[in-house]
Amino acid sequence: MSDPIRRIPVSTSPPYTVSIGGGLLGRCGSLLAEAVPAPCRVAVITDSAVGPLYLETVQESLKGAGYDTIPYVFPAGEGSKNIETLSGILEFLAEERLTRTDCVAALGGGVTGDMAGFAAACYLRGIRCVQLPTTLLSAVDSSVGGKTAIDLQAGKNLAGAFLQPAAVLCDTDCLKTLPPDVFADGAAEAIKTGVLCDESLFGLFENGGLAAEPAEVIARCVAYKAGVVERDEREQGERRLLNLGHTVGHAIEACSGYTVPHGHAVAAGMAVIARAAEALGWTEEPVAGRIARCLEQNSLPTGTAFPAEALARAASADKKRAGGDITLVIPKRIGLCALKKIPVGQLPAVIRAGLEG
Ligand code: GLY
Repeated sequence: MSDPIRRIPVSTSPPYTVSIGGGLLGRCGSLLAEAVPAPCRVAVITDSAVGPLYLETVQESLKGAGYDTIPYVFPAGEGSKNIETLSGILEFLAEERLTRTDCVAALGGGVTGDMAGFAAACYLRGIRCVQLPTTLLSAVDSSVGGKTAIDLQAGKNLAGAFLQPAAVLCDTDCLKTLPPDVFADGAAEAIKTGVLCDESLFGLFENGGLAAEPAEVIARCVAYKAGVVERDEREQGERRLLNLGHTVGHAIEACSGYTVPHGHAVAAGMAVIARAAEALGWTEEPVAGRIARCLEQNSLPTGTAFPAEALARAASADKKRAGGDITLVIPKRIGLCALKKIPVGQLPAVIRAGLEG
C-alpha cells in the first residue's frame, strides 16, 4: 500500500494546500480538481531535463481528468532564469490564447517554479499557477510561499512577483532519481530550516534522516515555512529569516557567474555567516562547527575561494539592502536565528571574519 498523502494547508490569500507523497504526478489530474476545477487549459512549463522524465505522465493524468494541456519546454539550467525565457513563455501563453480561467503548471525545480510562476503572475495581470516540484530544493522551499523571480545582469532574483500557487503537489518519487549533487542542493535549504527553527529536525540531518525519511523532512520544512509565510506573506519582517545563508550565498552565485548551484551557495553562505557571527560574539552558543559538520555530512561546501571584498561588492546589490544598511540572518543557536541590520560598509569585515574563522 502506498504511503498516505501528507497535506499541509497554507492560509495565505488565496489559501492552498501542499500535498506530499509518492506517485502524485501520475494522479495530478484528480488531485488538482478541487483547486483548479476542470475543464480548463493547463500550460505545463518545464525544462529540457525534467520534460523527458515526467511531462508525458503529467499530461496524461491531466487529460484523463478533463484538462486540455499544452506543453512548453525551455533549456535546463540557472542560465535560463532570465528575461528572454520569461518573454518566450509569455508569448507562448498569448499565442495559445490562454485566458484568466486557465492555469499554468510549473513542472520541475526552482528555476522552473520561478519562471512559470513569474509568467503566471504577469500574464493577463495574473492567472493561476500550480507548482509540481521535482527536486528536493523546490519541494522544501521554493515551490511554497509564492516568491517568483528572474535574475538580472546586476544580480539574482532582482525582478519578480509574489503569486501564491493554487496548489502544490510534491511527488517524493521524483527524489529517487535525482543526481547526488542536485539532492545535496536541496539538503542545504532543508538544513537551513533546521537551523532556523527546529533542533530536532537539524538532528535528523546529522544522522542521515534526510535520505531515510524524505517525506517527513519535506513536511516539517513546509509546515514551518507555511507558518512564516502566513504571518508575513510579503517579507516585511519574519519571512526575512528564511534568507539565512542567502546574502553571502547569492554573492557566491554572482561571483561564480551562476555556475555554483543555489543550494551549494546557500550552504557555504550559511557556514560563513555562522563563523562570522560566532567570531563577532553575536551567537548565544557555538554554532559554526556543528553547522559546518552537518553540511559536510550532506556533501555540501562550507566555504568559498572568492575574496571577502568581491563577495561584499556582489552582496551590496542584494534586495536585502535598504539604503546604507543590509539585514543579515544570524544563527543564535541551532533552532533560533535573528535578524541583524549592519551598515553595508561593515559587510567586508563580517564576511572576512566568516572566511577566516
Ligand atoms: N526562499 C525564501 C522565501 O521563500 O522566503
